[in-house]
Amino acid sequence: MPEPRTTRTTLTTTSPAEVPGGREAAARALDEARRRTLVLTDVDEPELTAQHSPLMSPLVWDLAHIGQQEDLWLLRGGDSAAQGLLSCRVEQLYDAFEHPRASRVSLPLLGPAEARRYLADVRSRVVGGLERVPDDSAKALFPTHMVLQHEQQHVETMLATHQLRDGAPLLGAGTPLPPGRDVPHDAVLVPAGPFELGVDGHAEPWSLDNERPAHVVDLPAFRIGRVPVTNAEWQRFVDAGGYAEPRWWSARGWAHRQEAGLERPLFWAGDGSRRRFGHHEELVPDEPVQHVSFFEAEAYAAWAGARLPTEQEWEKACTWDPALGRRRRWPWGDSAWTRELANLGGEALRPAPVGAYPGGASAYGVEQLMGEVWEWTSSSFEPWPGFEPMLYAQYSAPFFGGDYRVLRGGSWAVGEGAVRPSFRNWDHPVRRQIFTGLRLAWDVEGADRPEGGA
Ligand SMILES: [Fe+2]
Repeated sequence: MPEPRTTRTTLTTTSPAEVPGGREAAARALDEARRRTLVLTDVDEPELTAQHSPLMSPLVWDLAHIGQQEDLWLLRGGDSAAQGLLSCRVEQLYDAFEHPRASRVSLPLLGPAEARRYLADVRSRVVGGLERVPDDSAKALFPTHMVLQHEQQHVETMLATHQLRDGAPLLGAGTPLPPGRDVPHDAVLVPAGPFELGVDGHAEPWSLDNERPAHVVDLPAFRIGRVPVTNAEWQRFVDAGGYAEPRWWSARGWAHRQEAGLERPLFWAGDGSRRRFGHHEELVPDEPVQHVSFFEAEAYAAWAGARLPTEQEWEKACTWDPALGRRRRWPWGDSAWTRELANLGGEALRPAPVGAYPGGASAYGVEQLMGEVWEWTSSSFEPWPGFEPMLYAQYSAPFFGGDYRVLRGGSWAVGEGAVRPSFRNWDHPVRRQIFTGLRLAWDVEGADRPEGGA
């Protein structure tokens, strides 16, 4: 595939600067995230303290860890040597770097009632402190939004724990979604040319360090799937023996497929049904496939005569407006997210069928880029040129260059404030308990020649 060219200069027209909301908006968003946290942990004590999967923490660990991070960043300014509301001995139990997920169940954790009291105590002090933050200062409000995104990320993590848990449903079936429509599953051309990759703080004040800075990247032409790959399409891959044919898999992917005994996406039963939050139900054919690993996504793409997009290609297809020669804040434009534009927020408990959000299409006509499923890209996780760590310096930097692949777009489980077109998620290529799917991409013949492309 032709290599993109990266420069540090900026295009003349960039996204409009707009600080989305001050103190009140931040307080409302904190409330909403907490409401979701409490809904997902409003279950019996044995469900909260059990380890439902070695991949995940007990829910009661997530609960107190959310408070511990809020205590650290918003009450102590990130100074871990300062005394928080917990004793040092208890607080260190919630250090994610110290304790791997599989070991957390055996720690002397706070019980559910203590954890809830701690969360409420921290939050009441945070809300009091928010009154003193200058309302128009994005810099002063950034830590609040960073902590808010952390809680929203744990809401998604807790949803993954609920999905892995065995037993009768605890969460209901989810809220209604718009119907799909008969949309072509075709390949949309994105012509060659420069675009602005990443964002700066003035345009996206709550963007995290790895999304910054904005810089110009010149990409060859490519094609990208108008919609994500669906369950029906993935079923054809299974039926065609895709899991039994090493030629579609990378050497590492095939070795993993053999070792893990993969035969279909996680939670598929093999008879056309699946398990979703304790419900056994028929697979929905036109819903984006989820719970596939990078290695499976890569094999599917090879079988389909395609490849995975790079994250640069994904972001261009999502944000670039070729008519105006500038980035959009969202694929549909600069207006804020609404439920009519993308499946975000976590209440639906599933992806929407393809074609459900025609109004959410990007300038190129690519649909359902935000929400639905985290889309695997072929890119490993590296810093953008000019990267500078944010106040939580361990958020991105320790993971650059590791054995990760970048995922884009967020899933149905993600809170609206915790994802943007520039947001970069990353995970190991074998992971599939998170809400992962894919979209295909294709080279354009001759796109690496100067005169190539559309
Ligand atoms: Fe965390």
